[in-house]
Amino acid sequence: SGYTIAVVGATGAVGTKMIQMLEQAAFPIKEVKLLASKRSAGKKALFNGKEIEIQETTADSFENVDIALFSAGGSISKQFAPEAVKRGAVVIDNTSAYRMDTEVPLVVPEVNEEAIRSHKGIIANPNCSTIQMMVALEPIRKQYGLDRIIVSTYQAVSGAGVSAVKEMKDQAKNMLNNEPFEAAILPSGGDKKHFPIAFNALPQIDLFTEDGYTFEELKMINETKKIMSNDKIKISATCVRIPVVSGHAESVYIEVKEDGASVASIQDLLRNAPGVELQDDPANQIYPTPLDAAGKKETFVGRIRKDRDQENGYHMWVVSDNLLKGAAWNSVQIAESLYKLGLVKAKD
Ligand code: A2P
Repeated sequence: SGYTIAVVGATGAVGTKMIQMLEQAAFPIKEVKLLASKRSAGKKALFNGKEIEIQETTADSFENVDIALFSAGGSISKQFAPEAVKRGAVVIDNTSAYRMDTEVPLVVPEVNEEAIRSHKGIIANPNCSTIQMMVALEPIRKQYGLDRIIVSTYQAVSGAGVSAVKEMKDQAKNMLNNEPFEAAILPSGGDKKHFPIAFNALPQIDLFTEDGYTFEELKMINETKKIMSNDKIKISATCVRIPVVSGHAESVYIEVKEDGASVASIQDLLRNAPGVELQDDPANQIYPTPLDAAGKKETFVGRIRKDRDQENGYHMWVVSDNLLKGAAWNSVQIAESLYKLGLVKAKD
């Protein structure tokens, strides 16, 4: 007995991590269905050492599924999430397709787990950059309130998928060998021009909107307001892609509302916060880096400093594996919350 779980996008950067995270989930699993495109049908992947054949995603794939984890792009979620819900599954969607839908809870379990109670079939997993920032800031918000957030990101290439990682590695090889190469995917598969990511930094993630912000930046802004249930929080973001495989880093500036905060008190809050690991000891050169964070589920925080001019202003450096807490692990945690709160019954 246990849940029947579907993973849509099982061959992708996030989907393959979802399979690994499900192996560690705190709920019983009867069966895992691995779904991708027709191209992958017949390929095999391992779950708990057992080979499972990957199938093409169709509406009928979701018969008897209890929980469906989606990470195959927004258009696939739009097409198939309603089909999964129609067949009685709860969908946990890792794409941006439903995040700002008022009927859809947007959940980081350490921050707003209770929001899943109001789901109507679909629960959205926030953007990877938003998730790690929420995990780091919620303990501070709870204690002191937050007036303003200004964040600049240093984002890993795996957030753009398996093919973008391959593009970066090929470019790096070609550059070192003085061979010609072309950029075909980054900064955004959907935009007109493409630029090298190897040995570079690209201040564009996703497409530009009319006011000069990218959609990635607006995701961080809008999702933060929704998750913290606070439309009044002042927030701005600059999102940059850097040539790192996995692990997003963020320079986060905050202004707290209440008096009484200090570097030491913020460190104490984060030392005891769920999902956070404090790595903050500059005298011993201790601070988080993407290479160290890759493969781990925690959000790492260091470099906490008081602003030199702004009385209630603080700076910090926040790092987490974008494929794990930023995507696959947060999705599996949401499934754990559904189980823990008794919100999904296995159909069996
Ligand atoms: P496939 O490997 O069969 O193309 P990434 O984010 O790493 O680029 O991965 C995208 C994921 O979405 C892959 O698992 C990919 O499967 C899947 N995918 C792409 N197109 C479809 C589709 N039409 N139906 C189902 N899954 C799809």
